[in-house]
Amino acid sequence: MRVHVADHPLITHKLTVLRDERTPSPTFRALTEELVTLLAYEATRDVRVAEVMIRTPVTETTGVTIAEPRPLIVPILRAGLGMLEGMVKLVPSAEVGFLGMVRNEETLEPSVYAERLPDDLSNRQCFVLDPMLATGGSLLSAIEYLFDRGAQDVTAICLLAAPEGLAAIEKAVEGRDVTIVLGALDERLNEHGYIVPGLGDAGDRLYGTVG
Ligand code: PRP
Ligand code: URA
Repeated sequence: MRVHVADHPLITHKLTVLRDERTPSPTFRALTEELVTLLAYEATRDVRVAEVMIRTPVTETTGVTIAEPRPLIVPILRAGLGMLEGMVKLVPSAEVGFLGMVRNEETLEPSVYAERLPDDLSNRQCFVLDPMLATGGSLLSAIEYLFDRGAQDVTAICLLAAPEGLAAIEKAVEGRDVTIVLGALDERLNEHGYIVPGLGDAGDRLYGTVG
């Protein structure tokens, strides 16, 4: 498994505002979108392309276009939805599938409550969006879901991760083509499974509390 932790002052600056408990939802949503676009640049480094011939006003030349089958972007509902616009801005020709997952806040076990993905993901490059990688349970379920349907490789973009969750995923996906791109690797998980220092509940901060 490859892990890339962003090391860029703009990303750290935006994450600092995101972490701040005083930051209101509209600013939080705007920053999330901006951060994803910056992280997507690294996450799509190995996106498959095909050569194309084009004519400029001056001459013929070869260039590249995103190859078929098109990449599949999979935001994990709910919080991952806040990352979708930032990603499709960078890869507008990608397809989008959806996975709805929620973590039981007592057991910390994830469960799938919604799914809208192509049945056959053979040969597809998949990009999973979820702002928080805490215990890693939700992201691991998503990764397994995609490989079970034949995905060729999976790249996850997360704003923050805890070392415990990252290690758990690394162990579980051994031998698979998985890349994780992070805005920051935080210190640890607390006793409630929250990332420390983290930013709190990403879904609530994006969209408000649900009962
Ligand atoms: C959050 C977050 C991840 C998950 C991370 O979602 O968006 O999906 O928790 O935790 P884990 O690594 O321990 O599995 P949550 O279950 O709160 O749902 P939400 O996006 O609807 O708020
Ligand atoms: N989910 C969140 O939204 N935040 C955390 O810190 C952990 C899981």
